[in-house]
Amino acid sequence: MKLPASQVAVIEAASADEAQTIDQVASATGEKPETVTGAAFDLEADGLVAIEEAVEENVELTDEGREYLDDGLPEVRLYEAAVELGADDDPVSMGQVIGTSGLDGPAVDIALSNYARKGYGAIDSGEITADPDADPGADAEAAALDAVEAGDTESVGDDTLDQLDHRGLVERSERTVRSVRLTDDGVTALMEGVEAAETVDRLTPEMLTSGEWQDVEFTEYNVAADAPEYGGGKEHILRQTANRVKDVLVGMGFQEMEGPHVDADFWINDCLFMPQDHPARTHWDRFAMDNPREIDDLPAGLVERVERAHREGVGEHGDGYHSPWDEDFARALALRGHTTSLSTRYLSGEQVGDLEPPQRYFSVEKVYRNDTLDPTHLLEFFQIEGWVMAEDLSVRDLMGTFEEFYAQFGITDIEFKPHYNPYTEPSFELFGTHPETGELIEIGNSGIFREEMLEPLGVECDVMAWGLALERLLMLIYGFEDIRDVHGTLCDLELLRDTEVMY
Ligand code: PHE
Repeated sequence: MKLPASQVAVIEAASADEAQTIDQVASATGEKPETVTGAAFDLEADGLVAIEEAVEENVELTDEGREYLDDGLPEVRLYEAAVELGADDDPVSMGQVIGTSGLDGPAVDIALSNYARKGYGAIDSGEITADPDADPGADAEAAALDAVEAGDTESVGDDTLDQLDHRGLVERSERTVRSVRLTDDGVTALMEGVEAAETVDRLTPEMLTSGEWQDVEFTEYNVAADAPEYGGGKEHILRQTANRVKDVLVGMGFQEMEGPHVDADFWINDCLFMPQDHPARTHWDRFAMDNPREIDDLPAGLVERVERAHREGVGEHGDGYHSPWDEDFARALALRGHTTSLSTRYLSGEQVGDLEPPQRYFSVEKVYRNDTLDPTHLLEFFQIEGWVMAEDLSVRDLMGTFEEFYAQFGITDIEFKPHYNPYTEPSFELFGTHPETGELIEIGNSGIFREEMLEPLGVECDVMAWGLALERLLMLIYGFEDIRDVHGTLCDLELLRDTEVMY
């Protein structure tokens, strides 16, 4: 039987009695492990070898584990110091023992919490006693550190290994180890004799120029064989989806807004009829700028109209907040907490001049909030901002726009909940159903802008508007549950690599 040279090497190195790992075959044949794997899969396809897979646990010391291997476990050092100071007879002050042990920083707490757990002694009202019968020489965890370092993890008990893992002293990982074993057909083939076929597995420029390619036999492709994976660069799914959102909105007749990430509170809040004493405007919620602290220019006429709306309200029956309004407060700069700051800039006419209805604008841009990190909140996220300016808009227009928008992403079960915003009336939160957990998740906020906001901006018709979370849309599309899977250092690389582009 003629086989490609790499397969001949593998079949000759393989045995029918004992499975051999790819690494063993690689070192026996001098071939690279990936060549051996490829050849083994080809041989398996021909029924000449069988491939067995096993999951192997690998355990390694972390930096902290290695440190304790060199210096001793903190609790052992504490015990030795305690005994040195006579704590096996009478209690000794904790400060003294810690000083003698040379422990400092977090190692002190680590030592104290493990000391009692292991029965080295007791800690009571600032004094330490040492149990004279304790034997740190027999400390299972210390012995396990040695064993792991020596590659002899097998000798370590499961509980001890769990404990080391829990303490962050070892890192465990798993890998699939493949082994090959000759099949009966393989044995027969070997007995009948296999020889290397003169096949070549790649075409070179030299072969083309010399004409040699006409005489050689090419190795057949096995497209089903395992091959090393290459994680090439690709557009992040968040960026992909942002671009898709832009395409959809442009398709619905919207134009894109642009504007600063750092903006004056005036544009972020005051123009939205957000009272200056609103809780969201305290230093807890916003990322304030130190340098520069304030915006240089605000349009004087607009400032005056906004201030009047805040103080006195708008219209015949209008009533303002009757609370102080301070232009300096409005000038303060911060990272925008929503992109509705872009909407106020555009609606005011400051950005692209006065706008006549009908108009549709959107942005897909980053916003910043001083939230507590959790699976659905980050300090920054992308907001899909949008508004439609037209005569006589109703809630049906607003809901219909969302149904049309989300349907483009296959989401057809949007739900609405009445809500409150100082700048919209009525207001609605939007919810979608998470495809994996079935839970309702909030995906946006919307409403029809109030008179108190539009009149100072000089807008005389209706404006309906929204801010939707891009990351939440992504959760509905792709089904991941933690926003940190797509953002930041905890990113789920598998998810990012394997997610199919959806269009
Ligand atoms: N600014 C709101 C938010 O960030 C979204 C919104 C925009 C709501 C426009 C209504 C109108 O939640």
